[in-house]
Amino acid sequence: MLEVVTIPADVLYKKAEPVPEIDDAVVELADQMVDAMHAAKGIGLAGPQVGRSLRLFVVHLTDDEPRLFINPEIIGTSIETAKMEEGCLSIPGLYADVVRPRAVEVQAYNRRGRPFTLTAEGLLARGIQHELDHLNGVLFLDHLSQRKRDRLLKNYDPALFAEV
Ligand code: NI
Repeated sequence: MLEVVTIPADVLYKKAEPVPEIDDAVVELADQMVDAMHAAKGIGLAGPQVGRSLRLFVVHLTDDEPRLFINPEIIGTSIETAKMEEGCLSIPGLYADVVRPRAVEVQAYNRRGRPFTLTAEGLLARGIQHELDHLNGVLFLDHLSQRKRDRLLKNYDPALFAEV
C-alpha cells in the first residue's frame, strides 16, 4: 500500500513534473493511488501525496467511478464561486471553508493515454481544483488568509491524527 505523506513533507510544496509517457507503470501507480485513497477514506489523491512528484490525480465521489486525470489542465472556470468545506489526506484533521469557482472545464489524459475534456460542478469541480492544486505545490490552506492559516496551524501536528 502506498503511504500518504503529510505536511510538512517537501514534495507537497513542489510543482510536479508532467507524466512523460502513459505506460503500464503509470496505470499501476494510479491503481495503487485509488487503493490508498480508499484505505484512507478520502475522495481524492494526487501524485505528490504519495511522494511521487508527477502530474496525475484520482477522484472518487460516492455514486461515481474512480476517475483518473493525467497531465490535467483547467481550461475554463465559472465566474460564479462557491464556498465549501475542504479537508486533505495530507493535512489530516484540519478543515476549512474555501472559496473557488463553482464549475470548471478540465482537459486531461485517461489510462489509455487518450485526451478527454470534462465539465464539472459541485463536489467534482471542488475535488478537481483541490487535487490540481497539489500538482502545483498548493494546499487548500493557501487559499485562506494568513491569519486564518496561522490560527489553524498553531499547535497542529499531523501525527496526532495518524492511524493506529
Ligand atoms: Ni489534498
